[in-house]
Amino acid sequence: MEKIVIEGGFPLKGKVSISGSKNSALPILAATAIFPGSYKFTNVPDIQDVRTMLELLKILGSRYTFKNNKVEITSTKLSKHEAPYDLVKTMRASVLIWGALLTRFNKAKISFPGGCAIGDRPVDQHLEGFESIGYETNINQGYLESVSAGEIGGKFNFKIKSVTGTENLILASIMGDKETTLTNCSLEPEVDDLIKFLNSLGATIKRVKEKVTITPVLKLKKQTKAYKIIPDRIEAGTFMYLACLPKNELTITNVDASTLIDVIKTVKQLGAKVKQTKKSIKITAPNKIGALKVETNPYPYFPTDLQAQLMAVLILGEGSSSIRENVFPNRFIHVAELRKLGAKIKLSSNLAKIQGTKGLAGAKMQASDLRASAGLVLAALSAVGQSEIFRIYHLDRGYEGIDNKLREVGAKICRVKE
Ligand code: EPZ
Repeated sequence: MEKIVIEGGFPLKGKVSISGSKNSALPILAATAIFPGSYKFTNVPDIQDVRTMLELLKILGSRYTFKNNKVEITSTKLSKHEAPYDLVKTMRASVLIWGALLTRFNKAKISFPGGCAIGDRPVDQHLEGFESIGYETNINQGYLESVSAGEIGGKFNFKIKSVTGTENLILASIMGDKETTLTNCSLEPEVDDLIKFLNSLGATIKRVKEKVTITPVLKLKKQTKAYKIIPDRIEAGTFMYLACLPKNELTITNVDASTLIDVIKTVKQLGAKVKQTKKSIKITAPNKIGALKVETNPYPYFPTDLQAQLMAVLILGEGSSSIRENVFPNRFIHVAELRKLGAKIKLSSNLAKIQGTKGLAGAKMQASDLRASAGLVLAALSAVGQSEIFRIYHLDRGYEGIDNKLREVGAKICRVKE
C-alpha cells in the first residue's frame, strides 16, 4: 500500500484542470451493457473506480480499450449476467450493472453490496423499484437474483432520493413493455448525463424536475460520435476549498459552475474572492476565513461529497461553525483524523461543531473513504510541518492524479510505499 507525505504550510498558486466525473462515467459505462454495440467516450477520468467498472464489464464479456481518458468498449459478446462478490465488494457503484443486465437479459445476479466507511449502504429502494416495474428478486447466499416476472414498466415513488437508485431504475426500464414513471428522483447532474447519453442512442427519457418518465423502445441506435463525460463537480469543489486555505490562489478550469451554485455560495461566505467565467473559476483565499453553518442535502443543495473538504477549511475559520450531515448516517470518520492536527471539533449525532483555530500542526492520519481522504489532504496542506496520510488507495478511487495536480501548484507532496 502507499501513503502520501505532505510538507504543509506553503501557499499554492496556479491552474488546476478538472477531470471527467466519476459519478457520471460509472452509470454511463454500465449502460453499455444494455444493448450489444460499440461505444466511444472521451473525458473519462483515469481512476480506480472506472477501471473496476471496466474490469466488471470485461468479466461479463465486453472488450475495451482505455487510454488518454478515452474509452472504446464493445458489448456485443457480453454474455454473463452475474456481478461477482470480489468486484462488488470493492465498489458499491457496481450495483449500477444490475439495472443494465435486467434490460439485456431479463435477469441479473449481483453480490449484495456491502456497507462502507460512510455507513450502511442499503439497496431497498432499488429492490422496491425493480419490483414495482415487474422484476422479482430473491436473496441467495449473499447474492441478489432478479428476474423479470411479466410486463416490464409501471410507477415507482422513491421514499428517499437515491442517485444510483434513480439510475438503476432508468437502466432497467428503457426497453421495457410499457411506460415507467419514477417520482422523487435524484436531481444530480450525473443522472442527467446518463439520461442525455441514453437519449443520444434513441431512448425516450423525459425529466420534469423530480419526475422521470421512460417510454420504452425496442432497441438502441448505433452511436454516431464519441460521448463526452461531464466535468467532476466534486473534484472541482475539492480544489475550490483548497483555494480558500491561507495564502492560496487557484484557477480551476474545465468546470461547469452551474452545478456548483451552493458550493460557490459557501466559498464567498468563507470570504474568498471569486472570479467566474463560463469554464473556469478563479479563487483567492481570504485573509481571515469566515465561520459557516451548513447542512448537506441532495442536489441542488450542499453536497455530502464535499462535507469533509469544507470541514478542512472551517477548522481554520474565525469563530464557530457547524456542519449537519443529512444524507449519510456516519460520514464524520475524518473528524478523529483532523483532531490529530489540532482541529477543535465536537460531534453529536449528525452535527459537527467546529471551533476555528490557528496553527494546525502536521500528523500521521488514516484515509477511510474517498472524500474524507480529500479532506485530510487539504488539512495537511495547510498544517505546518510534515503529515502522512495512509491507505491512499481510497483517494485514487476517485481523484485522477491528485498528487501531480497539487505539485503543479506548488504543493510539497509525494507518494511513497507504506
Ligand atoms: C451516490 O451514491 C454517489 N455515488 C455518492 O458518491 C454520493 O455520496 C451519494 O450518491 C449521495 O449523493 C455514485 O453516484 C456512484 P444514494 P448512492 O443512494 O447512489 C439512502 C463518492 O464519493 N438509501 O443517493 O449509493 C442511503 O443510505 C460517492 O463519489 C436508502 O436508504 O447514494 C443514503 O443515506 C460516495 N436506500 C441516501 O439514501 C436505498 O436503496 C442517499 O444514498 C438507497 C439509498
